[in-house]
Amino acid sequence: MSERTSTEAGPRQPARTTGRTEGSTMKIGIIGAGNIGGNLTRRLTALGHDVSVANSRGPESLGALAEETGATPVAAAEAARGAEVVVVTVPLKNVPDLPSGLFDGAADGFVVIDTGNYYPRERDGRIAAIEDEGLTESRWTERQIGHPVVKAFNGTYAQDILERPLPAGDPARLALPVAGDDAAAKERVRRLIDELGFDTVDAGGIDESWRQQPDTPVYGLREGVDAVTKALAEASPERPAGFRG
Ligand SMILES: NC(=O)c1ccc[n+]([C@@H]2O[C@H](COP(=O)([O-])OP(=O)(O)OC[C@H]3O[C@@H](n4cnc5c(N)ncnc54)[C@H](OP(=O)(O)O)[C@@H]3O)[C@@H](O)[C@H]2O)c1
Repeated sequence: MSERTSTEAGPRQPARTTGRTEGSTMKIGIIGAGNIGGNLTRRLTALGHDVSVANSRGPESLGALAEETGATPVAAAEAARGAEVVVVTVPLKNVPDLPSGLFDGAADGFVVIDTGNYYPRERDGRIAAIEDEGLTESRWTERQIGHPVVKAFNGTYAQDILERPLPAGDPARLALPVAGDDAAAKERVRRLIDELGFDTVDAGGIDESWRQQPDTPVYGLREGVDAVTKALAEASPERPAGFRG
């Protein structure tokens, strides 16, 4: 999967709704309102969640998305206020620009989802700690934002979030890998992804999350649990040549 392919708009078909089988309305903050953040805003509001969404230009630039979805446009520094789940979905090069105190006022036990990928050549420039220290991309992000993350959606085509949700048990349902060190946080994210219409596979901890980084077998794979499990097992820890700055 390349970011270029992944960001193609694609036909806007109505999402096949999966309905909500469990859980209750959550307060969710989404930092980044682009391909992934925008579509997560669309689906999570459609499921009835209370979504605040932020970008770099400020809430006044998010009027159209707010009108379309009912999400509340906010400044990035406000996005996590009261949130049980915070999604960080900005380009990696912009993670260090996120405001300090980003999570001030978040709900007790809040969970951070990181959708990020490192594209040193096309977008992010060289990040020495990732390449020289061998940090996984999400471990680097954790250090920048000062909070553990659960890595999810990083290999998911943005349009699939709208167009490919299926009910649990459907044999064509896609599965997404989810990595994280905190079992409870990971389980919460997996339940939310199930609600969004996708199966999940436990991809281990953040130090193992190279298994789902760009150019791995699972990255961009549109398959179910068995194929995703197999692809994760087949990944190599060596950073691919095309993903070195
Ligand atoms: N595109 C995909 O299909 C896809 C799939 C999986 C994972 N990802 C990964 O997910 C991340 C987001 O990708 P994307 O394609 O959604 O990006 P995108 O379309 O380029 O959108 C990026 C968003 O981040 C916002 N942003 C940038 N700097 C910010 C800051 N300092 N504070 C607050 N918001 C900021 C931008 O706001 P402004 O527009 O106001 O600058 C924009 O809303 C990337 O790491 C990407 O590699 C992408």
